[in-house]
Amino acid sequence: MTDTRRWTLRTENTGYTVRLSPDGPWAELDAWGPLGVEDGPSALDWSHRTHFITPADAAPAEYVPHGLRPFTGADLVASRPGAERGVWWEFASAEEGDGTLRLAFADDVLGLRTVLCYESVPGTDVVLRWTELTCTGDEELRLERVDSAGVNIPVTGTARLTYLTGQWSQEFQRTQLDLPRGTFAMGSVQGVPGHAYAPWLAVQDGTAEAAYGLALQWPGNWHMTAEAEPGGAVRVRAGRVPHEGAVFLAPGETLATPRLACAFSPDGLDGLARVWHRYERHLTGERLDRPRKVLYNSWEATGFDVDAAEQLELAKVAADIGAELFVVDDGWFTGRGDDTGGLGDWYPDPAAFPHGFGRFVDDVRALGLDFGLWVEPEAVSPASRLYAEHPEWVYRIDDRPARLVRNQLLLDLGRADVQDFVIATLDRLLTEHPVSYLKWDMNRPPTERGRPGTGHADHLDLDARHVAGYLRVLDHLRAAHPDVTVEGCAGGGGRIEHATIARTDVVWPSDNTAPLDRLAIQHGFLHAHAPHVMSSWVTDAPGVFDPRPRSLAFRFVNAMCGVLGIGADLRAWTPEQRAEAARWIARYKDVRDVVHRGEVHLLGSPADPTFGVQYDAPEAGRTVVAALSTGRLDGAPLVPGRPARLRLRGLQPTARYRDAAAERTYSGAHLLHHGLPFAWSAAHDAELVVLTRL
Ligand code: DGJ
Repeated sequence: MTDTRRWTLRTENTGYTVRLSPDGPWAELDAWGPLGVEDGPSALDWSHRTHFITPADAAPAEYVPHGLRPFTGADLVASRPGAERGVWWEFASAEEGDGTLRLAFADDVLGLRTVLCYESVPGTDVVLRWTELTCTGDEELRLERVDSAGVNIPVTGTARLTYLTGQWSQEFQRTQLDLPRGTFAMGSVQGVPGHAYAPWLAVQDGTAEAAYGLALQWPGNWHMTAEAEPGGAVRVRAGRVPHEGAVFLAPGETLATPRLACAFSPDGLDGLARVWHRYERHLTGERLDRPRKVLYNSWEATGFDVDAAEQLELAKVAADIGAELFVVDDGWFTGRGDDTGGLGDWYPDPAAFPHGFGRFVDDVRALGLDFGLWVEPEAVSPASRLYAEHPEWVYRIDDRPARLVRNQLLLDLGRADVQDFVIATLDRLLTEHPVSYLKWDMNRPPTERGRPGTGHADHLDLDARHVAGYLRVLDHLRAAHPDVTVEGCAGGGGRIEHATIARTDVVWPSDNTAPLDRLAIQHGFLHAHAPHVMSSWVTDAPGVFDPRPRSLAFRFVNAMCGVLGIGADLRAWTPEQRAEAARWIARYKDVRDVVHRGEVHLLGSPADPTFGVQYDAPEAGRTVVAALSTGRLDGAPLVPGRPARLRLRGLQPTARYRDAAAERTYSGAHLLHHGLPFAWSAAHDAELVVLTRL
């Protein structure tokens, strides 16, 4: 008799049901959606009239190896060296725990045991999926493709895909396409997720609201594809991409793939964003209870020209307007007058701090500010002492030139001695001085990725080793320096994914802080990531990237949508501007708890003339709305004679909401149906509205 057992993983509001296939030795998706969705015939059942391909090619299989699935793409391609590729396995066992499931399949001829792992994440609507592979034979195995999971999305017609794409300074652009048939692919072989695509995808059934989301937890090379399959479903596959083209598994060894987080919301992309936000609050854990301090960072003001007296001048104004933390970015260490030198020699430049670095840090702290530093621990300048002492520490292919990117090389953080050096360096910096904030940057991808002296070392798995080294150092920082706040950055948003978010406090989405560009970047970012991790600065206007003018109010309200920072040259600000900034910072301190912990609604898109982000803290009876006018600033009304409106969401229609600052009270029904009114003008292009439920 065929074994067709079924298992359901339940989250707060969703169910994910897997069954053993009646058609062959694999597991397949039975149902995924709101709780109870599995109660009925599976929407993924397929016709069986698909001639010329095998059942495994058409089935909504959870994970199928090449061998069993010859034509439509496999999640696992394995072989013994010198032998044919292919896995033909049998179902071995099922282990069900509290919110967990492990389905094992064994190929005794090849000597491979594959376990499909599932875990529902408490308090969220996320199911984690990954795969564990064990070499059970006496010969090593070559794994040429080793995805985390295949995920089937039940669609009835053409799937709508939403993804976040761009380039350096234009990250997280929300982009959509319809996929009637064929394959959509994205990924990175840059050793980090990269600026081109976030490892995140949303799939909807055409224009239907319900949204399925996938996010890969892996800060290295990755790929994600979505295929509109012959069986009717859309199948998403995601996983790491081994740098050497394959991973080797020695007898007795087990390899666990990165986690793929699978999320569902019946409430569209907006609802899906809330699922991801909740998941990231879960990843942050109790560190969410620490208020994220208002930062000042001097990078845009002084660049590499770091000089103690000037920095103190900036720190003084920053403290006066209410900043709580002062961060010296790049340029503070020896040999770093520009981007051609210094990296690796992490000692304060005595020329920049003539009275000593310790004295400088004390002076900043005497202003009532915490002190923070920028580092790029994986980087090394060819002209540095570190490179002279350890040329073997950088990635390089023997007998080949090592290219410079931004005039620098990359350390092989997969090496234990490099990790130890980085840990010792950071320990020294964090203990010699009261440094309570560290911005970890990374500005070049690995180009010639080899380990000198090892020849063609195809067993090294350099990408996974680098990832392991990076995570080891971040874990060390959390354990040894729990009070230090860590900001993750990679030339802007080049390395933002869940493994990083779980080990840092905030991330830097983009180097582009120009108001309207930033708005689009943050809009995309907030689809995938939570406000409490979104570092955002108010900078000078016109900015470096986008000359379109916007008021100081706009820049503040925009930056207050996440974790507020200031990156402007405050020395040049007039007393009026400083006074206005102080008022905004005070308001931010009053609402940051709601912004960082509340339920978010993205009100429209930055392409709309009025865009807003709503944050709800229903227990506290508070709603905060950041409203931004993206339209003309010449005073021409958008709809003649009428103010702009932003329809709010999720409020109680019968409750009353008070905007104390404007001395106005609205019914919930009015705010939901007509919306909050705004009278924009050239002088007034942003507002922060705080509503209290009466
Ligand atoms: C790239 C980062 O994204 C910037 O914020 C800044 O830290 C520079 N590097 C410094 O070199």
